[in-house]
Amino acid sequence: MSWIREGELTIIERFCANIIKAGPMPKHVAFIMDGNRRYAQKCHVERQQGHSQGFDKLAQTLRWCLNLGIREVTVYAFSIENFKRSKEEVDGLMDLARQKFSRLLEEQCFLNVCFAYTSRHEISNAVREMAWGVEQGLLEPSDVSESLLDKCLYTNNSPDPDLLIRTSGEVRLSDFLLWQTSHSCLVFQSVLWPEYSFWNLCEAILQFQMNYSALQKARDSYLEERRRQQLERDQAYVNKKLQQEGSVSRADSRRRRSLLQKCTALREERIQGFLQALEHKRADFLERLCPVSA
Ligand code: FPP
Ligand code: MG
Repeated sequence: MSWIREGELTIIERFCANIIKAGPMPKHVAFIMDGNRRYAQKCHVERQQGHSQGFDKLAQTLRWCLNLGIREVTVYAFSIENFKRSKEEVDGLMDLARQKFSRLLEEQCFLNVCFAYTSRHEISNAVREMAWGVEQGLLEPSDVSESLLDKCLYTNNSPDPDLLIRTSGEVRLSDFLLWQTSHSCLVFQSVLWPEYSFWNLCEAILQFQMNYSALQKARDSYLEERRRQQLERDQAYVNKKLQQEGSVSRADSRRRRSLLQKCTALREERIQGFLQALEHKRADFLERLCPVSA
């Protein structure tokens, strides 16, 4: 490490950061921090030491991200699958989380931590929530859509990641943000997580920049298609209404337009009502899970 430092970065790192920042930058980066145990084995240290160094690397990476102007980071800290590891290792990771996470969250308000998470669980939970909305009469079955599912995910307050990075040479997503990364740039790097460097991060951002226009194009055309499908659903709903009224002639275009506007406004209203009810339901659940003492 150089002794010539300006803030978190050396002068050469800062110079390169400024060059990279001249191109399109990811606003949201997700990490699968993999390779802690292989690192421990490689360095002949305890497994827990590998996880602990992995945690320190996370803190350092967050500071690099801040320096690069990346405003949001999501990390896969612990998957539901990880509970299958030995009790000793799981307890060790939980201890590490207890000791270090609160301090990290105080410092880095833009960090999302996925803990005891898998994406398929998150998606099936979102589907169950929408079914509950229909059952409660808050939603019409035709309100169920990809955009509503987006809003039922745990990540509903965040934009989708622009870039997802997995370390340690594994080239799979391991049930992490499957829904949210369909238009993200996926970068797999062979470095073990505790050895991750500023240059590895720059390399991943360069890959994002090289693929930027293709990613944007794919995302835009997907959103356009989604809007078109919603319009088609609304039009089908209006046609059904008009048929019921017995007025389906072409001369009814003004009535058709006003019904279409009304139908869109009513749908939006139902969705807002449902999302508010869902928020209360989730808050009640969390309150029961960890009651705030009076
Ligand atoms: C993957 O390496 C890493 C984890 C399962 C834990 C990730 C957690 C951190 C980097 C530290 C921050 C998190 C906490 C809980 C404080 P691995 O164990 O799968 O290693 P391997 O791929 O070499 O077997
Ligand atoms: Mg692993």
